[in-house]
Amino acid sequence: MTKVKKKSIHEFISLLTPSASTYISGQQLADKAGISRSAVWKRIKRLRRHGYKIESQHGLGYRMKGTTEFPVPWELKRDLRTSFIGKEILYKESADSTQRIALYIAENKPDPQGTVVIAEQQKKGRGRLKRQWLSPPGGLWLSVILKPEIPTGMITLLPLCAAVAVSHAIRDCTSLEAKLKWPNDVMLSGRKVAGILVDISAEAERVNYAVIGIGINANIDSHEISGRLQHHRAELKVTSLRTELGHDVNRLELTSHVLENLEKYFLQLENEGALPILKEWKKNTEMFGRQVEMMQNGKIVNRGTAIGLGEDGSLTIRTEHGKDKSIISGDILIRY
Ligand code: BTN
Repeated sequence: MTKVKKKSIHEFISLLTPSASTYISGQQLADKAGISRSAVWKRIKRLRRHGYKIESQHGLGYRMKGTTEFPVPWELKRDLRTSFIGKEILYKESADSTQRIALYIAENKPDPQGTVVIAEQQKKGRGRLKRQWLSPPGGLWLSVILKPEIPTGMITLLPLCAAVAVSHAIRDCTSLEAKLKWPNDVMLSGRKVAGILVDISAEAERVNYAVIGIGINANIDSHEISGRLQHHRAELKVTSLRTELGHDVNRLELTSHVLENLEKYFLQLENEGALPILKEWKKNTEMFGRQVEMMQNGKIVNRGTAIGLGEDGSLTIRTEHGKDKSIISGDILIRY
């Protein structure tokens, strides 16, 4: 008997889908996939955990009832229209933090540019300013490794670039008008729906790599994450796509749009410089002309009106005393 080469998980899926109306027995699956009956059962269980709807009937076997909307690599790669982001995709059912994993890969693996790390849930999700980022199952938690060919002075634009990409991805996949809040929050009806964390390794003259961490509150209930930022007044209000829409989004589609938009705006930043991304960011914010409070360690340190963005992505505010101030980092509370 010829030994069948062990099939990968996506080849295994194709064994289940030729005709959705027919069942395939466990033994047939085992023979065709080159694995044991118990390995078949393990794979079925794993696929169900990944969102596939697989029926089983005693005496008949298995039948695929519906494919997945989870952002699993083999489904993502099928339709992803990018040139380098997503060439390697790592998917974890549970991780401490995709950012930590991506930083490890960036430091230790050859040619890591474009690698994407996705986790269904994170146990130690990291937010900006050393905060915790609650990441239950159902959200979109991912990190992307980039090697930007830009002067080090422009790296402050990377978070803005990612925020623009995420806001477009949300608009592409839903009817929701996502807006941007400085420095890199994505908002829906004045509440935070997504956040960006950028870690950079750079020398005086060049950027070695950047890891862009993106967290989107997708198919989770707001109360699951509203405790996240309790101690930070500036970020008390959070929401999710599910809360805003009243139904779940297709996370597979959302992930493709995030990665495609990220590549588009990243290449634009590399090739055309700062201006187009600043223009796009300004077009998608509702901050300008509003009263803002600048917070540090939970305390208000400045008040004024948000009036613009500097070339480096800093926020310009006109203070109560009529002076213009440039803010490089920190938290902003908008008075609506
Ligand atoms: C923020 O504070 O607004 C930024 C949140 C960034 C969260 C994402 S989720 C994927 C990646 N992994 C992490 O641990 N953090 C980022």
